[in-house]
Amino acid sequence: MKKIKIGAVGLGRLGRKHAENIAFRIPNAELLAVCSVIEEEVAEVQKSWGVKYGYTDYNEMLKNEELDAIFIASPSALHCQQISDALDAGFHVFSEKPLGTTLEECKLAEAAVEKHPDKVFMLGFMRRYDPSYAYAKKKIEAGEIGKPILFRGYSQDPEHAIEGAIKYAGHSGGQFIDMAVHDIDLARWFLGSEAKSIYAIGGCYAHPEFGQYDDGDNVSALMQFENGAMAFLFAGRTAPHGYNVETEIIGTKGILRIASVPQKNLVEILDEHGVRKECSQDFLERFEQAYVDEVQEFVNCIIENRKPDVTVYDGTKSTIIAYAATESFRENKLVRL
Ligand SMILES: NC(=O)c1ccc[n+]([C@@H]2O[C@H](COP(=O)([O-])OP(=O)(O)OC[C@H]3O[C@@H](n4cnc5c(N)ncnc54)[C@H](O)[C@@H]3O)[C@@H](O)[C@H]2O)c1
Repeated sequence: MKKIKIGAVGLGRLGRKHAENIAFRIPNAELLAVCSVIEEEVAEVQKSWGVKYGYTDYNEMLKNEELDAIFIASPSALHCQQISDALDAGFHVFSEKPLGTTLEECKLAEAAVEKHPDKVFMLGFMRRYDPSYAYAKKKIEAGEIGKPILFRGYSQDPEHAIEGAIKYAGHSGGQFIDMAVHDIDLARWFLGSEAKSIYAIGGCYAHPEFGQYDDGDNVSALMQFENGAMAFLFAGRTAPHGYNVETEIIGTKGILRIASVPQKNLVEILDEHGVRKECSQDFLERFEQAYVDEVQEFVNCIIENRKPDVTVYDGTKSTIIAYAATESFRENKLVRL
């Protein structure tokens, strides 16, 4: 079997999981190299999983001619330059979301993708690969809920992860770019249209630390799309019960709800607290399968010489909307796109 040899950059909260999936859960991929500025992370992963090459300098990894593809899970503001450098060096590229934290960065990535049409580029909007979201999309395409007119997306990180979120806040790009960007992508995908205006509000309700970055710990936004559809987003960092991602699409003939109770599984517990269901505790648990399936799709695209559904333009468009939401939140005004 032909194996795509991958070099992965970023071994943090998500990057380490991606690297592990590439190494052990994608049969037609091989994790040949890892890169992080933290030397101990590189050494630990190399030793634990027998990865042949380790780098602390990304540009050194790009000189490795044994590699076929680069997998980027570094901080968001580095994505676009790393995408451009990897494509120019002759590699296929997967990048985590968001594409970039500014429009200029996104345009750099777009230009690089356009310059290398023979290479596969994919962006990590993994929710599209989650079995429930993919199922909902098919129902909408089959016309089962009529015309979609409202998208409602809640994305909440658990309070117990707040320390990491505060640490990351300085280079996250803000709540809309870091977190709500997933819901922005889903809204565009499900509503089949582009946003034309957005009004965002929010604040630091529990953690003033986010204020130093002109960010909030809980934010929301209302959007109107070019086809007249509406979207409401809520992104928070203080969910007491766990990792809560719930979505609703209201159509003229029906409604779809995905994880409106964000349960861990189908088990119900009857005990001294009453009757309850447990909740997923983080993104790695809730989207475990989606993270594997998106990487499998990237590798299959390389082998089968085709392009994935999630494009660089999805990255730019969602970043533009997230940026407009951030501007609206900071300046308390309606932003037209
Ligand atoms: N799709 C999702 O659900 C999801 C979830 C979490 C994070 N993310 C995205 O993944 C990316 C990484 O997030 P994270 O939470 O894992 O971050 P993190 O801070 O935990 O890890 C970042 C990693 O990048 C490395 N790094 C930093 N600068 C580098 C450089 N110049 N060269 C090489 N390596 C460098 C760090 O050493 C670390 O290993 C972000 O863009 C984030 O938006 C996506």
